[in-house]
Amino acid sequence: MALKLVLFVTVMVAALALPIAKGTSVVVEVQPSFVPCSLGANVTATPPFPNAQVQLRCGAGNVVASTTTNASGVFSFSLDSTRLSLLPTVPLNHCNLVVTTPLSTCNSTLPPVGVLESRIQFIRSSVLGLRIVLTFGPVGFRYSSST
Ligand SMILES: *[C@@H]1O[C@H](CO)[C@@H](O)[C@H](O)[C@H]1NC(C)=O
Ligand SMILES: *[C@@H]1O[C@H](CO)[C@@H](O)[C@H](O)[C@H]1NC(C)=O
Ligand SMILES: *[C@@H]1O[C@H](CO)[C@@H](O)[C@H](O)[C@H]1NC(C)=O
Repeated sequence: MALKLVLFVTVMVAALALPIAKGTSVVVEVQPSFVPCSLGANVTATPPFPNAQVQLRCGAGNVVASTTTNASGVFSFSLDSTRLSLLPTVPLNHCNLVVTTPLSTCNSTLPPVGVLESRIQFIRSSVLGLRIVLTFGPVGFRYSSST
């Protein structure tokens, strides 16, 4: 399982033509991203969703990581090699960000059930010394009535 992920990352990094030194480690991160207190239409004009639990789920709903938005509705993830082994053998852009805190928590007129969710997309890779950082971000949060 971990081997397949390593292969996937290696292929991806090779495709990006990055130099890989021996002893290089890979970090997968989701860049600081905004969660709106809305059904997800035009997020720039909407208030933030503070203290919302956000999960990174991959494959058949495996929760790989979990965090909470700050007072500005912003969260991020950084998965080092110890957490990477938790990732299933799917391409990383087949992972979803799921906000499990009900929208009614930030606005009582919004639904008490269902979740905001977004696929993740690859943003960039960067080499920091012996670390390769693969950065992802949400495609855009949308409300889904099923969990
Ligand atoms: C959403 O925002 C975009 C860019 O600001 C704007 O062009 C568009 O009209 C907005 N859509 C709605 C439904 O408000
Ligand atoms: C929330 O996190 C973002 C990104 O790290 C930061 O810019 C912002 O100032 C934070 N907001 C609060 C209220 O801490
Ligand atoms: C709460 O949600 C409703 C419906 O989307 C919206 O009209 C209202 O402006 C929101 N209230 C606040 C304080 O954001």
